[in-house]
Formats: sequence, C-alpha cells, structure tokens
Amino acid sequence: MEGSRRRRAGRLDAAAALAARALPTALTPWIDQARLDATMILDRATGKPPQPLLNEMEAPAPLGEVDPLSLLPRAIADKLRTAQRDVRILRDRLILGKNPPPVIERPRATAGAVVSLPRKAPHMARPLKVVKVVHETKDAVSIYVTEADGSPLEFRPGQFLSVDVTIDGERLRRAYSLASACLPEVPVHVTVKRIEGGRVSNHLNDTIREGDELEVLGPSGNFTIEPRQVNERHLVMLAGGSGITPIMSILETALRVERGSRVTLIYGNRGWDDVIFRDRLAALCDEFAGRLVLDHVLERPPEGWSGGEGLLSGDVLEARLQALDIEDDGLVRYFVCGPTPMMEAAHEALRQRGVDANRIAEERFNSHEAHSGDAGSDKTELVVVSKAGHEHGVQVEPGQTILEAALAAGIDMPFSCAMGGCGSCRVRRAGGDIQMEEPNCLSRAEREQGYVLTCVGRPLTQVKINVEGP
Ligand code: FES
Repeated sequence: MEGSRRRRAGRLDAAAALAARALPTALTPWIDQARLDATMILDRATGKPPQPLLNEMEAPAPLGEVDPLSLLPRAIADKLRTAQRDVRILRDRLILGKNPPPVIERPRATAGAVVSLPRKAPHMARPLKVVKVVHETKDAVSIYVTEADGSPLEFRPGQFLSVDVTIDGERLRRAYSLASACLPEVPVHVTVKRIEGGRVSNHLNDTIREGDELEVLGPSGNFTIEPRQVNERHLVMLAGGSGITPIMSILETALRVERGSRVTLIYGNRGWDDVIFRDRLAALCDEFAGRLVLDHVLERPPEGWSGGEGLLSGDVLEARLQALDIEDDGLVRYFVCGPTPMMEAAHEALRQRGVDANRIAEERFNSHEAHSGDAGSDKTELVVVSKAGHEHGVQVEPGQTILEAALAAGIDMPFSCAMGGCGSCRVRRAGGDIQMEEPNCLSRAEREQGYVLTCVGRPLTQVKINVEGP
C-alpha cells in the first residue's frame, strides 16, 4: 500500500517537474501547489490521513529537485542521466572552464563487508576557502566560506558543517551551523561562539583569517525546512545564545522565499552585548515589518529595558508566548535551539500548551567542547554489540567512538558519514549510558525510543547495543 502510494506520488512529482520545465517559470509555484494538492487529494481518497509537514526531510522533494526522467523505465532513465551528466561536465570544463566540485569519498558499509576506519575519527574532510571573517560580538565570529575552487557551498537552511582543526598536533572536530540564508548569491558562513575552555571555538575566534583554509565535512543535519514560494505558514522559533545560528538561516530563508509566511522569534541571551546578529535581525524586522516579530529576552537587561527579562525557563517562555499572543491553529511549526535546559523548558511549555511533539523541530547544541576533557568515559569500557543473533564484546578506549572500536574489532557495522549527519549508524541502546556529540541528526522521538548514533557515541559505562538488520 505504502509502496504503491510512493510510486504514484513519484509519477505525479515527475509529471509536475516536466510541466514546470516546459512552461514559463512564472507558473512553477502554481504547478508545485497543484502537485501538492493532488497528492493530498489522492492520499485522502486512498484513506491516508492528511499530515502537517512535520519532518521536512519527509516532505515531497522541491519541484526543482525532481527528475522528470523518473517517468521513464529505469534502464532508459539511467542511460539518459549518465549522458546528461557527461554533457554537463564537458560544458563546465570546455566552455565555462570549471572543474567539477570536490566529492566527499565516504566508506560504504555493504552487506557482508567490513570497512576499516582508523582508531580515531576518519579524515575525510575537504578544504573550504575562507573569504571573509566578521567578528559579530567579542565572543562570536562569522567565517565566510566557498568551496576550494570558489564555487558556492550548497546546503539546506539550518544544516551544519563539521569543522576539523588541528591544535598542538591533535585533530579535533566540532559542528557549527551555517547561519546564512540559503539563497543563490548570498555569501555562506558559519558562526562560532566562544565556549569557556573550548579549544576549537577559541582557536577559531582568535586565529582564523581571510585566505585561510577550513577543513570540513558536510553539510549535514535534519533541522531544516523545505522553503516553497507558495507556503503560507507561521513559524515560531525559540533560540538561546548561539542556538540562533541555524535558526537565523531558516528564518531568513523562509521570509525571503515564502512571501505568505510569517515568523515569530523569541531569542534569549545573557546581556544586550551577547546578542549575535543583533543588527541583522533589526534590519530584517524593518524589511519584513508585519511578517517578522522579534522578542529579545535578556537575563541581565540594561537600564531602561522594556523587553522580556529572565532566563528562558518554562515560566518565562510561557509568559512571552502569551505576551506575543501566539495563536495556534494546529499548523504552527516550532523550531527550538539552544542550551539543553532551555530546550527542555521549551518542550515543557509547548507540551502544556497542547502542542504535539511532532510539530516541534529541535537542534541540540551541547557540543562536547562544553565539557572538560574528552567526551565519554575516561577509562576503557566494554560495549556488547548484539547483531544477527550474535553478541560481540568490544573494548572502547577513552576518546574512541563505539563505531571506531567496533570496526577495529572486525564487526560489520552500518555507517556512512561517520559524523552524525546521516543516521546510517543508528542502533538501539539496550543498557548503559552513552554520550553523543551534538548536534546530530537523531530526532527527539528517536532518542526517546533509545536510539543512538555509534559514529558520535562514546560509552560512559558498560553498554549493550542492538544493531538492526542483517
Ligand atoms: S554514520 Fe552517519 S550518522 Fe553515523
């Protein structure tokens, strides 16, 4: 049933994509809307209940990304795609003088094959070119980047890069969100806030210069939206401190692409000088008056402050939601990003308002940089890996991820990106405590069901995990 629904939706998408390419561009938003309406009508007719777009990664692909060739039999479509790609490469090389963008080579786990990784995180990063550096506050720096050949970095609003930095001979990896609007011609940047004692964040704030190279993996992450011109929706965003970075990307992209949508942002900070993107947000409020409501909440407000006050606790958030008179028609979508206590408070406040958890998207930001020393246990821990009816004992050394240790022990583990971005290494925890690097792509629901990612997971105690599949 689900398979035939997907096939039908695929044919509808491909037909709409064909129409969009054949007809004038001005008609594309209407063709897209007609496709979405037709999908919903057919879903209803076949008994599938309508759903709000909760996880945009599960939403229909944007029309521009749908391949009309999928209407054809697969063998013919594959041949045509190969020919299209070859023509594109030749055109880029011979006419435009461009080389193809670098590709991240990722080890692939295939059934029955063991892929070895070095003991420490694999080096699969590629260099980006740093084209500009802007110090947003005394504690936050925006690093503008392009691909090494000068071409723009492609990403979805709200995604993050994993940045590799070598300090005193030690290779360290941290995730930083892309904070720019996801639009052609808009320069792309990550914004890095200093963390007390954080080696990478302080190193980048102190040393990064225009002309440097930044080693990265990604972009990755599911804390994102699929902006569509025809959308008319209300996005409510709750951000604390540097949690503004992915929110900023989503917010500005939505305002610029979706002319019928509006955004409310509640943004908590310690003091006025700690507010990242203060001027950019003020300019957006002017530009999108009536469509963007911005509510600053300060823990230590300056004299004469008339905005919200306090830490973003449950009570303060509820008071701000009331003060802003946010009406929820059951379709409002919420985006939450900030320190863990603030996120827990936000979930509780929204739950008490009757907001279903699947209308809340979140990005966790408690990078292990915030903790002292290495993440995970400081002694070797036993991890029992249960797979296909067999149990394997794996010794995980301090600093090692479960994936690294299991692969080194010869166990055929599923994985792809090895950086918390794809979910391929997802396993279920059956006992013990595991610490994961954040952000990563696990949803709140998956966490509550006991899932963990082995590529960014380190044991804190003796642990048992169940690997699903063959
Ligand atoms: S391998 Fe991609 S999330 Fe772990």
